[in-house]
Amino acid sequence: MEPLKLETDSLRDAAAHRHLLYGTALCTSDLTEKRRCDTILRECSIITPEYEMKWDRIGGADAPDFRASDRLVAFAVENGLAFHGHTLWWHESVPQDLGEASDARFAEAALEHLTRVVRRYAGRVYSWDVVNEPLETDHGRRDGLRHSRFLRAFGPTYLEVAFGRAAEIDPEAVLVLNEMGLEYASPGAERKRRAMLALLERALARGAPIQCLGIQSHLDAADQPRHHPELRAFLREIDGLGLKVMITEMDVSDQNCPRDRRLRDGMVADTYRAYLELVLEESRSLGVSTWGLSDDRTWLATARKRPDGAAVRPMLLDRALRRKPAWHAVKSALLSARNPDGGVEPAFPKGKIN
Ligand code: XIL
Repeated sequence: MEPLKLETDSLRDAAAHRHLLYGTALCTSDLTEKRRCDTILRECSIITPEYEMKWDRIGGADAPDFRASDRLVAFAVENGLAFHGHTLWWHESVPQDLGEASDARFAEAALEHLTRVVRRYAGRVYSWDVVNEPLETDHGRRDGLRHSRFLRAFGPTYLEVAFGRAAEIDPEAVLVLNEMGLEYASPGAERKRRAMLALLERALARGAPIQCLGIQSHLDAADQPRHHPELRAFLREIDGLGLKVMITEMDVSDQNCPRDRRLRDGMVADTYRAYLELVLEESRSLGVSTWGLSDDRTWLATARKRPDGAAVRPMLLDRALRRKPAWHAVKSALLSARNPDGGVEPAFPKGKIN
């Protein structure tokens, strides 16, 4: 018998073998470079706009500008990629001109924005980050909700409003609640995991159509534990609620690693591997996205500068788009995923998966 030949020379193929999507965040300037574009198309089956679909970028009701997000969605459709709509409601991307608005005016504008964006792209988007980063346990509320304009304007059931409206307009899309810091080892992260479970239980009991938890996964190679029983237990509880999981924004900061490049690359790769193996083992995952592909295009170059001034190396590819140890680590973690139910419908994205 012929041995089974696995076509796995790309992350998209490795992921597809486990019914997973692999992808990256990108922006329109990435599409103007042929080599980068080819690399994205070779490696990815899903893309996420890094910032061009955020509310402050599209702008308010009087003159919304959809040119950039239109281009990214068109790129996905033309190339058979799944599209992750990031993000509808996020406290950090409220347009400036709403700063002084009354709560009633803010609520009206927020719903108008959500409705307009989902309606424009419905049917072409695989999944929506409907609400991003609702929790901030340091804000002192018992339910852990962040004090945001959304909370003030709609009250603590604002998730139900957002998910309900998104589901009415785009019933086929996977609706995701996206959060940061659920994956860390600190006591604060454990509080956040508990708050998230309680929030999801409440929202689901009231009928909010949340289907998936997005775990951002901005990790630090010097901090992220290799063994993480609390995260395992959390993911099992998420699974018990019937929710899928998506790793939505993964990168691994090397800010606190030694300067030696081989050591650093090894620590970053090990962090990707251990983390992905754990999450993919404990959840019904839809996919993994990294927040960029290569070391020259990462928000961490400014957000997590190294104290010694050396250029950061947190991504899967180097500046010349060559594969780093982290690329191989991600590939091996994807291939070893059990992914019980097969998260992704094999028919999506059309004709390109499987
Ligand atoms: C960041 C982008 O990478 C930056 O380009 C932008 O200026 C600010 O936002 N969590 C999120 C992402 O959900 O939207 C953030 O992206 C990174 C943290």
